[in-house]
Amino acid sequence: MKTARYLSLTTGMLVSAISLTAQADITVVKADALLDVKTGKLQQKPLLILEDNRIRDIGEQGKLAIPEGAKLLDLSGQTLLPGLMDMHVHITSDAAVHGYKGLAVSLPAETITGVANAKTTLEAGFTTIRNVGASGYSDVALRDAINKGEVPGPRIFASGIPLGITGGHCDNNLLPYEYQDKSPAVADGPWAVREKVRMNIKYGADLIKYCATGGVLSKGTKVGAQQYSQEEMNAIVEEANLRGIHVAAHAHGTEGIKAAIKAGVRSVEHASFLDDEAIKLAKQHGTYLSMDIYNTEYILGEGEKAGILEESLDKERVVGSKQRDSFSRAVKAGVKMVFSTDAGVYPHGDNGKQFSRMVRFGMTPLQAIQAATINAATLLGKEGELGSIETGKFADMIAVPGNPLQDISLLETVPWVIKDGNVAKRP
Ligand code: ARG
Repeated sequence: MKTARYLSLTTGMLVSAISLTAQADITVVKADALLDVKTGKLQQKPLLILEDNRIRDIGEQGKLAIPEGAKLLDLSGQTLLPGLMDMHVHITSDAAVHGYKGLAVSLPAETITGVANAKTTLEAGFTTIRNVGASGYSDVALRDAINKGEVPGPRIFASGIPLGITGGHCDNNLLPYEYQDKSPAVADGPWAVREKVRMNIKYGADLIKYCATGGVLSKGTKVGAQQYSQEEMNAIVEEANLRGIHVAAHAHGTEGIKAAIKAGVRSVEHASFLDDEAIKLAKQHGTYLSMDIYNTEYILGEGEKAGILEESLDKERVVGSKQRDSFSRAVKAGVKMVFSTDAGVYPHGDNGKQFSRMVRFGMTPLQAIQAATINAATLLGKEGELGSIETGKFADMIAVPGNPLQDISLLETVPWVIKDGNVAKRP
């Protein structure tokens, strides 16, 4: 029910004692089944009552009363799941633009690309994303435009500009010295990094991303080598946590992964070279691993055409298989994992292709789905509102024609997407 306070025309006083009840927007959804992602149980013949953007009630068809005047959404033949959540996306990046091609992309152009990608991502069934790196707060602007209803897209948790050392994976290293090109979030030293954390928060970041090691796609960096020192990582995490936000660390190399975990990051991105000690540390600290194991197929298959540097392709030839092996071991050890793809490096909308790889490399279908729903919501600290279909949570859900626990590839092409109680995609 919406209650409104209004201004009395005659007296000019705020009348709060009388509350007007505006017509709430009620939608009744029926489907063949509903997947409880916490238990893996399938509820047969569910009936859901959505009120505005929330789930008001969940029951059984024929048992739960349908409120008068409700709109009916008949998803017979479909299984309902919570909206999918990808915890590592670059929503404003274009997979066809890598390496030197990227130098020709302006900030406004990048932002507009993000608008198109947001729609594609939502229509792929991803109703929430964590964006871990964009230029000039394009991700923040896009998040706000989506929240205002100006453009369609997923809920975005945005990092703003990732922090990095001079010449590191998060700097701009393509041009020679005389161009003086440098990422605005490059900082060296504990106080300098704190200042960049503060800058990102000032301009609207929901979390902080930093680069703990070299990367595949950056020029002149070693994937295995640590970049920030332990002291700098500690400062980044302490400053972010002080301000009430979490930190995601890009880290491929073993020592960088361990330093990031010890610093207290919420998630390690990529996490390619895990040894037993790194796995143990992640378990001890409750750190999430956020591993983009589909990425390698696109990079090695299409990367050259898209402008990926030869040195990056060489690095990927080593990292891809190591990362998949690390993924299997981390799953076996029971480390907390989220679904993360690095979409933007490869085409947005293909996010769902990673599910089958996660199963191939050691997860059960339920674990892969949990990574993209309840685990992701918990990483974000939003498990009270997102990540499962439960009373009181946001009405974000998808529907697929069958049981994804039996056929995980159903999540690659999602026919029905509902976000905030509204149908965002129908067949
Ligand atoms: N953005 C990442 C980097 O440049 C991509 C890593 C992709 N490779 C992989 N195997 N996940 O380091």
